Amino acid sequence: MGESVEFSIKASGPNNEPVRARSGCIVAGVYAGRKLSAAAQALDRASRGHLTALLKRGELEGRAGTRLLLQDVPQVTSARVLLVGLGPEKSFDARACLQALHTAAEGLAATPAADSVVTLTELPVKERDTVWTVRQAAAALAGRSYRFVQMKSTTPAPALPLKRVIFTVAAADLKAAQAAARQAGAVASGTALARDLGNLPGNVCTPTYLADTARALARTHKLAVKVLEKRDMKKLGMGTFLSVARGSDEPPKFIVLEYHGGPRGAKPVVLVGKGITFDTGGISLKPAPEMDEMKYDMSGAGSVLGTLRAVAELKLPLNVVGIVVATENMPGGSATKPGDIVKTMSGLTVEILNTDAEGRLVLCDALTYAERYEPAAVVDIATLTGACVIALGHVASGLYANDEALAAELTAAGDASHDRVWRMPLWDDYQDQLKSNFADLANIGGRPAGSVTAACYLARFAKKFKWAHLDIAGTAWRSGKDKGSTGRPVPLLTQFLIDRTSKR
Ligand code: BES
Ligand code: MN
Ligand code: ZN
Repeated sequence: MGESVEFSIKASGPNNEPVRARSGCIVAGVYAGRKLSAAAQALDRASRGHLTALLKRGELEGRAGTRLLLQDVPQVTSARVLLVGLGPEKSFDARACLQALHTAAEGLAATPAADSVVTLTELPVKERDTVWTVRQAAAALAGRSYRFVQMKSTTPAPALPLKRVIFTVAAADLKAAQAAARQAGAVASGTALARDLGNLPGNVCTPTYLADTARALARTHKLAVKVLEKRDMKKLGMGTFLSVARGSDEPPKFIVLEYHGGPRGAKPVVLVGKGITFDTGGISLKPAPEMDEMKYDMSGAGSVLGTLRAVAELKLPLNVVGIVVATENMPGGSATKPGDIVKTMSGLTVEILNTDAEGRLVLCDALTYAERYEPAAVVDIATLTGACVIALGHVASGLYANDEALAAELTAAGDASHDRVWRMPLWDDYQDQLKSNFADLANIGGRPAGSVTAACYLARFAKKFKWAHLDIAGTAWRSGKDKGSTGRPVPLLTQFLIDRTSKR
């Protein structure tokens, strides 16, 4: 895991006192047209116009995405001043603010400063409050400090030398901002775990490794943990889950973590994560190019473990169950073949027309298993379909739900954490595509609306509770030169659970 950054909050006060703090670097914003933010003005006053003189010389215009690093500014107690361009003041919205925060993180990464005072959290942002800005500022810095070096033989220098950050806010926002900073720290820690698990290769992050990770988490945070083995799954009748595991030599694991933070007997929220530690497609083998990316096919599982870590660190007053269905999807002598018919734990039979549509086969048995908790709500998280990437790209996760209030909660949590989702339909009209000539249903619904029919398949197993499904195929990792796990949707899921504690 990357080095973690510690966040705290200070009220800026009438004269912007934090400007007189001693730090490795103080960060302040400048709007387009060289207009200084309040904190930048305070720095300018302290330095008797040093900043305005430099801006007049044309060193910084204030355009979005630009920055200027100053050393030893006269009368300023911080060793460095990082000025960040904010763009036009009248259009400083969420997007502009996020860009400024990322520019600040890049700027800080280019200095050896171990501590920093970041004043960008004071800036008013259109349609957002300070809590949102603090959350995003923390996420930007934590994200920048993350690096995955476990598999390198030598350890490179930290991605961000920063250890401690103070965010300044208006005095009225102090309490709320402090809570937000604490939550952001936990989200960062959960997100880092999800990223680590996603980035680990398939030969390391096996179902057994996920089970060991769950056990370690349980030990650290006093969670209850149970790992079901193949023989247990057979007894429970998890036929479709086992049909996916058939082709692999790695033993499958059905992992259950229970966090008891709420009243005894309070119905839990159950999170179910797809944990395919490598998806070759099975006998319906995937093409070779970019197949390495199928190591991320356990990102749903990683997000469940990461969210439980965040929830446990925050000691949230509610009950949460995390279920991880872990197996490889491999071709092999005894692998499931297209046309095979298997029975789910629910009793429905499934004709497996494509062994690459394996996510729904493992998840349906986990959803049936979840019934025993009489859950308040069930949310499954899965890198389920390539079709979802086509539909929504890498910006929003696909949201499906059989309950309007649950859908609204998740949408709001997505906006609040900037880990966004977009609602997709679950209409029964799509169920026709899943008809099978030989079994109760087929595991694929053809090319049209591939993400929808996958969700509709799951819906058949989620009739007994309020349920939502997040298709994170496009959001859980980045491809290309900077490929790697994003840790999404840990921020969304943690926010969703935090919000549930204040509502009840
Ligand atoms: N893990 C994949 C989905 C996936 C594909 C995620 C590409 C991210 C990028 C899933 O198991 C899968 O293979 N789905 C198939 C379903 C199809 C056979 C109906 C797909 O999307 O092609
Ligand atoms: Mn697949
Ligand atoms: Zn898959």
